[in-house]
Amino acid sequence: MTERLPEPLRKKIADRLAFYEDLGIRFFYRDRSPSPHEVLSSPASVSHSSVQEESTLPKPVRMPALQKTSPTMPPKLVPAPLPVAAGPSLFEATEKIVGDTLLRVREDLGECTRCKLHSTRRTIVFGDGNPKAELVFVGEGPGADEDAQGLPFVGRAGKLLTQMIEAMGLQRRDVYICNVVKCRPPENRQPDDDEVTTCSPFLFRQLDVIAPKVIVCLGAVAAKTLLQTNRGISQFRGQWLEFRGRKLLATYHPAYLLRNPNAKGEVWKDLQKVMAVLGLEVKKGKSA
Ligand code: URA
Repeated sequence: MTERLPEPLRKKIADRLAFYEDLGIRFFYRDRSPSPHEVLSSPASVSHSSVQEESTLPKPVRMPALQKTSPTMPPKLVPAPLPVAAGPSLFEATEKIVGDTLLRVREDLGECTRCKLHSTRRTIVFGDGNPKAELVFVGEGPGADEDAQGLPFVGRAGKLLTQMIEAMGLQRRDVYICNVVKCRPPENRQPDDDEVTTCSPFLFRQLDVIAPKVIVCLGAVAAKTLLQTNRGISQFRGQWLEFRGRKLLATYHPAYLLRNPNAKGEVWKDLQKVMAVLGLEVKKGKSA
């Protein structure tokens, strides 16, 4: 007999499934093993569970097709994310989606209301630039100017970033620029952990689609999100690291440079390392 779930719970589950769908996760495993409560309360639980052993092996359960599913996405077997302490994080569970495009990522993001930032934003700032860029800059989140214009890094920090890009011998249109969170945190505060967790899978998909040679993280939030670390940025700034097999380098955020112009020299050294990898001519002494 199928029991009907209460409507609020059904809606919650549907929202959650839609969220995973957006991340490209379509299969879930139902854990049929008895709960600790059942094990403790049932005197027959030991023999019962061993008799059931075969049938309790997790079986893939196909999610019902959601409206947004595109026929171009082949169904894939993806393990359901396990509880945080026991298994892979959502970060690891989010696999590359075959045939994904920036347009589809943007469509999946939609008029997002997944986290609390939606209630104060004006515009979703998805990202901008060359969708086939060899170099992607990842910032933290939109500020007031970006929120107003819908484009990343167009305020004061953005002007400095543009100068840095041009000092590398590139134009903004040559690179791709995006952020960890796509909506402005109020008062330009740092995004909260839950906001980063909710939004970052869309960033991972953007990076997978663009497949750049180099990712430059601007500041600690981007670096911590892509490297899944709590270490301070000064411990690994300017070092070559990896994100899903791609070269990643973290440097200071342009907003930090506006407050600490003395750090510009270090950032310029970092960018010269990037230029060397991209085969751009490294000119001694030139900096933004
Ligand atoms: N700071 C960021 O991190 N991103 C922007 O888009 C603008 C400022």
